[in-house]
Parts: sequence; C-alpha cells; structure tokens
Amino acid sequence: METAIADPQVQDTRSGKSSIVGQEWRPGNYDLRDTWIPVAHSPHVTGKPIRRMVHSHPVFLWRDGGRPLAAEFHPDALGSGQCRGGELTGGSGYFPVHERYNYVWMWYGNPDNAHEALIPDVPYLPRAGKPLPRNMWGQIYFNCSYELVQENLLDLVHADYLHSDIIGDEENDDDRVYVESDSETVTMIREVSNKTIPPLLRFLGVPAKKADYRAVAHVHLRSGVVVLYGKFMPGFAQPLFHPLVPESRYVSRNNFTFNITGASPIARHGFPLLSYVIGPQDDFMMKPQNPKYQARGERRDVSSRFDAADSRYRMVMAKLIQRQKEGDYSYLSDADPGQDIAGLLDCPRVD
Ligand SMILES: [Fe+2]
Repeated sequence: METAIADPQVQDTRSGKSSIVGQEWRPGNYDLRDTWIPVAHSPHVTGKPIRRMVHSHPVFLWRDGGRPLAAEFHPDALGSGQCRGGELTGGSGYFPVHERYNYVWMWYGNPDNAHEALIPDVPYLPRAGKPLPRNMWGQIYFNCSYELVQENLLDLVHADYLHSDIIGDEENDDDRVYVESDSETVTMIREVSNKTIPPLLRFLGVPAKKADYRAVAHVHLRSGVVVLYGKFMPGFAQPLFHPLVPESRYVSRNNFTFNITGASPIARHGFPLLSYVIGPQDDFMMKPQNPKYQARGERRDVSSRFDAADSRYRMVMAKLIQRQKEGDYSYLSDADPGQDIAGLLDCPRVD
C-alpha cells in the first residue's frame, strides 16, 4: 500500500506536456473496464429476465437451469438471432458472469480478461450458500455518479454531522484518520476514542454513553464496490457491503448487504433498516452536488483539497483512467482486488 500522497502531475504521453490529471478527469465520463460489478442480488435473478442498467446500457439477467446469465439483449431477442453482440461480450451478447456473496457479478470489459480472482474480497459475507435473512440486504439509489458516493464514503467523518442521530456526533477525546491506497483501491481508516453514543445506538446494543469506534471504508475504483466495516468497542460491529452499480452519470444503485451477526436480535434486525434513513440523508447532500462535481474545468463541489482521502481518490482515479485511455487495462503488481482484507478491516472471516 502506498501511504504518501504523490505529486498529481503526470506526463501526457500524447502531447508531451505535463498536466494536472485530477482536473482532466470528469466523473461519469469514463467507464472503467475489466472489472466485476455486483449487478444484482442472487435471489433477484430467476428464470424470469430482469433488466438492470450499467453505464447507461441495459443488461438483462436471468437463470437457465439455475445458472445465472447476463446479456446485452432480452433472451427472446437473442433467441431470434437478430442481435449482434458488442465488444464487451466478444460479439456473443453474453457477459461473463460469476456468483459470489449472494450476488450475480458481471464482467464489464474484455471477456478474455475475466477471471474470478479479480472479484473483490468481502470477508464478512458468506461466499456461497443460502441467502442471508431478507431484512439484511436491499437496494437504495443515489442520484449522482458512483464516484461522488465513493468520495463521500471516504470522508467517514461526515457521519458525525449528517448522521449524528444514528452514528453519534463529533464529540470525542481523539480522532485519527489514516489513508492508504494502491493503484486500484483507496482505504480510509478512522479510529475514535470515547465517541458519544446516541440514544438510538444504546437502544440497539452499544452498552455505554461513550465508546471507542473504528471504521474502515475500502473503496475499489474500477468496480464501484465499497467494503465498509465499523465497530463500537464496547458494542457491536457493522459489516456493510456497499457496492455502487454505475447505472449512469446521474444514478448509482447500491445493492447493499448488512451482515450484522455478533449483536442483539434487535440490532441484527433493526440496524440494516437504517440504510433507508442514512441513504436518503446522503442523497440529499450529494444530488445537488452532482452537476458541479461533473462540471468541466475546475470542479466547484464542496470537496476540500485538504481532505486527504478524497485527494488520494482523485489522484488514483486519474492515473487509472489515464492508463485505460492509453489502452492498458491490466492490473498493476501492487494491486490485487481479491486479496484477503480481513486484517485491514480487523474483522473475522465468516468462511
Ligand atoms: Fe453518509
């Protein structure tokens, strides 16, 4: 993991001039390729085709004999022989598909490069088997591009202000933030001492008015996946898988799973429902920012250049896009989306 913030100036290989890549990158205008996207929860993919959107294009999902399929066209159209598949399906119309963690993942990129080892590691979700209870997973929408949601999550401190009723306010003894990155991911780790615990959290099972809190946001830039893990000590952990399906520049779909296990029944059943409260609070902030975030030239959204995690995010994203624009879709040797991150999150593996 790279820990120093490198100079964002890179050489433009075509013009030979150096440029601030962070300013060239306009979110929502470049679809990163060669990545797995958890496009639907497994139970939603049945014998009856459903349509989802990925980068403003429809993707049809259904099962044939239990096996999940993802295609550019409805199966009836595919069967008619009238449709010709595009580049991302090698002309076949079918995307590579893999099922893991109770999701159907589709490969967005060159089908020849699809390998299941590139599916992000989610240590707190069962890799296979029976779906988790229905209240632990669901979907919410954000009215903005997935990059803005990722940047919002990399600023975990925002929860103290935007979600203070639920997560607790900014009162604490000590608040440390660490940022790590490689060429595919950015991670923010926040460690708080003696955080004030709001009544709702005490009701759900954090047994004190003050508790230490550790939270990690591990963001995969290509796939839109965000692996979140928070832990109150004393108290319970909140393992929240928070993928962001890039439906378009204006809409991201969060197919979440909140796998709370080591907590009271009321927290296990009640806490995941808070997604439907917290999500709209974030959307209320992000939706009006989206046009400014995507504006040409200097962006006028509310991000600060003193925000280390978001500055790092923009730098890593700009480099990744630059490489892909030059035709390099490979994963560099410092990055491995499937590597075990249980240690990074400080959470137990479920299997
Ligand atoms: Fe939030």
